[in-house]
Amino acid sequence: MDQHFTEEVRNSVSIVQVISEYVTLKRAGKDFSALCPFHSEKTPSFYVSESKKIFKCFGCGVSGDVFKFLEMIEGLSFPEAIKALAQKAGLPLPQRTQNPSQAREKERLYSVMEQAARFYQRQLEETAEPVQEYLRERGVHAEAMARFGLGWAPRAGNELLKFLRRQGFEESEIDLCGLLKSPGPGSFHDRFRGRVMVPILDLTGRVIALGGRVFGEGIPKYLNSPETPIYSKGSCLFGLHLSKEQIRQKDFAILVEGYFDLMVPHLNGVRNVVASLGTSLTPNQVRLLGRYTRNVVVNYDPDLAGSAAARRSIDLFLQEGFRVNVLSLPNGLDPDAFIRREGAEAYLERLKRSSAYIDFLLDSAIQGERAAASPKGKVNVLNQLLPYVALLPNRIERSETVGRLAERLNLDSSLILAELRKVAVERKKDAKIAITLSQEVTRTEQRLVKLLVESKEARGEALPQLQDDDYRGLTTEPIFRVLRDFYGSNREITFLNLQDALSDPQQKELLSDLVLTSSCDPEPNRAEALHCVTALKRLSLEQTRKELQTRIAEAEKSLQAEEVDRLYKRKLEITRQLQLLS
Ligand code: UTP
Ligand code: MN
Repeated sequence: MDQHFTEEVRNSVSIVQVISEYVTLKRAGKDFSALCPFHSEKTPSFYVSESKKIFKCFGCGVSGDVFKFLEMIEGLSFPEAIKALAQKAGLPLPQRTQNPSQAREKERLYSVMEQAARFYQRQLEETAEPVQEYLRERGVHAEAMARFGLGWAPRAGNELLKFLRRQGFEESEIDLCGLLKSPGPGSFHDRFRGRVMVPILDLTGRVIALGGRVFGEGIPKYLNSPETPIYSKGSCLFGLHLSKEQIRQKDFAILVEGYFDLMVPHLNGVRNVVASLGTSLTPNQVRLLGRYTRNVVVNYDPDLAGSAAARRSIDLFLQEGFRVNVLSLPNGLDPDAFIRREGAEAYLERLKRSSAYIDFLLDSAIQGERAAASPKGKVNVLNQLLPYVALLPNRIERSETVGRLAERLNLDSSLILAELRKVAVERKKDAKIAITLSQEVTRTEQRLVKLLVESKEARGEALPQLQDDDYRGLTTEPIFRVLRDFYGSNREITFLNLQDALSDPQQKELLSDLVLTSSCDPEPNRAEALHCVTALKRLSLEQTRKELQTRIAEAEKSLQAEEVDRLYKRKLEITRQLQLLS
């Protein structure tokens, strides 16, 4: 579809009118709002803007134009959505940009691929007993080889080329299909040699590409068709042709990485599987899958690369409104190896217990954080997770998740909730909470605030000793003031109460920073609280003594003997107090 026509259609229909055929829209200022049709909610967070021509759900994060809406709600492809809306708007579809000769050429390419796959298949059946043996050992028996159309590319230089030429195809056509390599101008040989061949089919069952696994050891392990006029890697999922019905029926898909990770489960009765073939998942692939289900279990290899790929896929799936679970199999096994070792039953069992993506992200954030038990480490982990928690559409799920986070990180839920609110206000997935400790706050202040907030004993011990002078001028002064006020008037001291009492937003922030970042320190105890108060007093006295010393020097310079005397006495007094403290 050409760009101009797409624009024209978009401009000729009213997005509000189209969407109102599916959901009840209410006016909300310039825009319209509704209960989101893509997740369940009780209060409307789904917005439609006529002027911007977009919809957006602030609950689950889906957004897009009118085409996107139809794609999602009706399970249409992009061209199908354009067609449907063009019809509605009474716009005639433009003449196919593809002229008849181009169409014929493509048909030729499909035939080349079909013939090539058949050639490889015959080679496997007729000439390659050791390769069949290898496949059988991998759990792929004769009937299965036929089901997946597996083949063998002979080792000799140009067997396929010769065969296809005999079928009447031009070298140029065969080359366009990516089946040849050209070591020099005008000379060609087969691209795939000495490899086990797996055809990749489109949704209608036509062969559009091939993957070839080296027989034995070798690099690369898999060689795949390049992009061709009939194959675009990022828009296709291996196995979808075979799995789509099961995926629709079961209403979820298992996403795996490799060819065998698809075939082996399939052969063992797990048929709602698709493979992304080791490349990073694309939005197109996610949308393609979205035609059949909005639920996916990502089951990539449990190694570093696999888990990084799984993390990237989560973002894509969430953007398309999927529910995502992640399955990491034990002992470094991929689905293929796991099922061969443990069987399909065990696999299904694991599948049932696959983790919600948020738990997977938490695990991998903790693993990726070298010092996950340190305050800074916890903050990093939280920073990675909170944007995702904020995305959870359902409040119960959100608070359960916060509970789990609190438990795993050994933090107070109310603190996480407070941080979450900040993220939620920004409503952005990439919103980061910035927990930064002000430079001026000493370790002692930080620890003392934390102790006083968390421990009643600490308060009883330390607050009666604390005086205005001890914290005067410190960044934390307002916090200590409020603490002492509360204590003096017998008000209940909790983090949230204190937050409410602090008027300055920066102070509120500081309070949560202080309490949050220092939370994996040892259990609060009374002795430590007193110790902190003493330390504060000492700091304050030392500061005063320094100031006095400066003033004494000035008074001496200007020969104010009396003033020098007075200041000197005060300094002595301070020194005496300091001695008492130690
Ligand atoms: P893996 O390296 O995990 O291989 O790559 P595998 O699928 O477990 O291979 P087997 O079990 O040893 O046969 C996962 C997928 O990444 C793609 C392939 O699609 C592979 O199935 N890949 C991998 C390549 O395209 N090229 C490569 O060199 C390696
Ligand atoms: Mn494998």
